[in-house]
Amino acid sequence: MYPEALTHLRCPNCLDIPLTSAAGARLALDGAIIQGQLYCERCRASYGINHGIADLLGSRALPDSPAQATNYLPITAWGYERLWRWYALTLLSGEAFAYDRELALVTALTAPARGGLFVDLGCSNGLYARALTRKLPPDRSHVIGIDHSLPMLRQARTFAQHTRQRISFVRAKAQALPFAAGTVAGVPIGGSLNEIGDVGGCLNEVRRVLAPSGRCVLMSLAQARSHAGRALQTFLGLGGLMFWTDDTLNDLLQSHGLRLAAQWRYGIVVFSLLLQDNKHAIPVYQ
Ligand SMILES: C[S@@+](CC[C@H](N)C(=O)[O-])C[C@H]1O[C@@H](n2cnc3c(N)ncnc32)[C@H](O)[C@@H]1O
Repeated sequence: MYPEALTHLRCPNCLDIPLTSAAGARLALDGAIIQGQLYCERCRASYGINHGIADLLGSRALPDSPAQATNYLPITAWGYERLWRWYALTLLSGEAFAYDRELALVTALTAPARGGLFVDLGCSNGLYARALTRKLPPDRSHVIGIDHSLPMLRQARTFAQHTRQRISFVRAKAQALPFAAGTVAGVPIGGSLNEIGDVGGCLNEVRRVLAPSGRCVLMSLAQARSHAGRALQTFLGLGGLMFWTDDTLNDLLQSHGLRLAAQWRYGIVVFSLLLQDNKHAIPVYQ
């Protein structure tokens, strides 16, 4: 992670208390903190930074489902972008959907030129984080990739180093985001909501951390319309993947304070632009 992430990071237990970097941290030539400790003044918790990744979960955090467990495997992390991701949307949408089309849509909707903090939620290998970083204004801006799988984050950092991009990667749960309320300019979520576990807990957190003018850009997978597709999704559901009809998804988003501003569907791939719903009471967490 990079020192500029420290401005934004908060203790996942205390939420509004900043994390400070303990003395003696080891830095890389580009300024990345590659070894060190983060510390919360209030609850006195400390969190390690190893190989450039801040770990706010520690060794006791376990995946909630077989689908999540698959993403904890080093082989999945290695193959995710190399073998699957580049072709995934073409397969799932039933039409040509290469990265240039997907990333142009996601970055246009997230609008990184506004500057500020952008959080790639459930980032895996950091595809959206790298795309957004290319479009950020030089100062006042940073992208942080969040995932609970350490192998995914390690691969994400390796890819970002290859492209010489300053992206911070932090291990945390989508249901306990380490940011203060109202501080995040944009949250792209690429395919992660379908396996995130407690969906309501994640959406409440997205709503909490978004700035008043913030945007959440969701790429999710809908319930298939064919019998065969739905049968396959029912089977995948046993492993913890969830698929929603368009109406169910939109009710879910609305009921967690996220207002649907626009939506596009290609096959089972759905892109949604979500803004804060100001009529919705902000949930308060301890
Ligand atoms: C489908 S992949 C995401 C792909 C990536 N966003 C992209 O567009 O290439 C889902 C990712 O979400 C992560 N994930 C799942 N549940 C999570 C949770 N509760 N908290 C944090 N990360 C989670 C997984 O480890 C996995 O890397």
